[in-house]
Amino acid sequence: TTQRVHRIAVIPGDGIGTEVMPEGLRVLQAAAERFGIGLAFDHFDFACWPYYERHGQMLPDDWRERIGGHDAIFFGAVGWPAKIPDHVSLWGSLLQFRRAFDQYVNLRPARLMPGVRSPLVRRDGTPRAPGEIDMLIVRENTEGEYSSIGGRMFEGTERELVVQETVMTRHGVDRVLRYAFELARSRPRKHLTSATKSNGIAITMPYWDERVRAMAAAYPDVQVDQYHIDILTAHFVQRPEAFDVVVASNLFGDILSDLAPACTGTIGIAPSANLNPERRYPSLFEPVHGSAPDIAGRGIANPIGQIWSGALMLDFLGYRQAHDAIVRAIEVVLDPANGGPRTPDLGGHARTADVGRAVADALRHGA
Ligand code: NAI
Ligand code: MG
Repeated sequence: TTQRVHRIAVIPGDGIGTEVMPEGLRVLQAAAERFGIGLAFDHFDFACWPYYERHGQMLPDDWRERIGGHDAIFFGAVGWPAKIPDHVSLWGSLLQFRRAFDQYVNLRPARLMPGVRSPLVRRDGTPRAPGEIDMLIVRENTEGEYSSIGGRMFEGTERELVVQETVMTRHGVDRVLRYAFELARSRPRKHLTSATKSNGIAITMPYWDERVRAMAAAYPDVQVDQYHIDILTAHFVQRPEAFDVVVASNLFGDILSDLAPACTGTIGIAPSANLNPERRYPSLFEPVHGSAPDIAGRGIANPIGQIWSGALMLDFLGYRQAHDAIVRAIEVVLDPANGGPRTPDLGGHARTADVGRAVADALRHGA
């Protein structure tokens, strides 16, 4: 039999993106060997300042043809504010990918890892245990509050007015809800929380709630609750252990998907996925963090966010076991009992490559 080979477009981008990417690839390679997964990497040098400097644009004109046929995009980070404004670099690259490839689910796991201190303590003052916080934020990534419908009138006068409309379509709401319900169903707790604000935003949010109820009818095995976004943020801080899958509109999801990883420690380890669940287009996997110009070039960036994003990619490609093994290997390296290397953001002195090698080793020798 011939092995299926998945073609991965690799785009390291700017700053520490170029430093954490080799470690992400190292661990993917180790996983591919251990689990017999066929991965072929194609490397691309666009979506970064050096490319812009040479070509005057972030992407080649034919970027859709060059990466649109791949099975996934493995992305580092983009942005170099000292050289190029963020709205030019991000809108000229990453945000183009998300739109053109209809990546309507932004998925961000937030899990408290061993050896990483949550800024949140329990009510009795004791620290939280690894795994105690373990949630998945599902953000709608294409419509909602982030629309370009609206305008400004009577500019510069006393009558000046601005309007920006929220757009929710049945198609757009239902597809992200369906993804979230399926995800909840696949997890042991089978629990889904919906973020709303139907008491204040009295047209679109009641519609969102209505679609949640309609979808829930098809998933009787999933336990559903909903909270207004204001109290939900308080619950994230006061009892983060209560959440499993949390689904939210674009704006609310944006807020929650930064808050949840913040509750679990350092930005250096948080992963994310931008998914087109129907697989008509490639999905994109990237760490939550940016290019970190303040530490770039020193070889001390934490590569775990990139490595974990690679695990999400393998899960999406159908290799749940490989995903779980990478997450376990990360936990082994982070566990203080094992004395593994730690980068400075986690209080250690290790270098980026030390951590990447340690995770790859733990994966090779792991259970
Ligand atoms: P950032 O995430 O790059 O850095 C924030 C802070 O966290 C910095 O102090 C940095 O040193 C630290 N940090 C980030 N990742 C780390 C890692 N892996 N290990 C250790 N420390 C880490 O956010 P910032 O500084 O606001 O943005 C820098 C550039 O990155 C900007 O151009 C911004 O637009 C871009 N950016 C790009 C993103 C993407 O490509 N998806 C996401 C966020 C920001
Ligand atoms: Mg954000």
